[in-house]
Amino acid sequence: MEHKVIVVGIGPGSPDYMLPIAKQAIEAATVIAGSQRALDSFAPAGACKKVIGADIDDVIQFISSKRSASDVVVMVSGDPGYYSLLAALRKTFSVQQLKVIPGVSSFQLAFARLGLPWQDATLVSMHGREPDKTLIQYSPKKKMGILTDSHYTPRHIAQVLLDQGWPLTSSVWICARLSYENEEIIHSDLRQTCLIEGFSHCVMVVTE
Ligand SMILES: C[S@@+](CC[C@H](N)C(=O)[O-])C[C@H]1O[C@@H](n2cnc3c(N)ncnc32)[C@H](O)[C@@H]1O
Repeated sequence: MEHKVIVVGIGPGSPDYMLPIAKQAIEAATVIAGSQRALDSFAPAGACKKVIGADIDDVIQFISSKRSASDVVVMVSGDPGYYSLLAALRKTFSVQQLKVIPGVSSFQLAFARLGLPWQDATLVSMHGREPDKTLIQYSPKKKMGILTDSHYTPRHIAQVLLDQGWPLTSSVWICARLSYENEEIIHSDLRQTCLIEGFSHCVMVVTE
């Protein structure tokens, strides 16, 4: 039987938010790839490990070479279906060669923490990418969830949103280190968020 690439969503970080089936797949792994943090936290002792870094071709090459002898588990943060290595893997491996185990997205946990439904939210990732201006333009009653990074910080994004017509008084929640013991959620408005320093990889929720 052909071996699989098992793409496992590990959720926002704490094992409390990882599905049992994801834990089982990771525990059974003999070859496993993930961020350094995910490997340190979850990889079984004795497994062959590969750090997923900036060189995606190198990771795909590693997975391809190892898959001839065993399944390869690939850990990704949150859910694999939203901006993860899955998109790159789909270019090399067929659906039949992949098995995808879902995870709790950082968006899900952020909206849950705020007690807000997200079926009507516009979801945008500014993690390593330019925002699509039409997606982030202000319109009345709009609700947005945004993934941030060290370039598009909440402070930077607040200015971008003001430029797109959002009112200064719009509500902003910055949700940092979700699920970890040092989780932090700050409620502010766009005016104040333009002055906030010190946040990078977060979920930002914005409503009018
Ligand atoms: C490459 S994206 C991956 C998104 C992931 N697939 C998901 O479903 O959450 C990484 C971004 O997710 C967000 N993120 C992931 N884990 C987080 C956490 N524990 N707390 C806050 N934001 C998190 C940050 O915006 C980070 O820059």
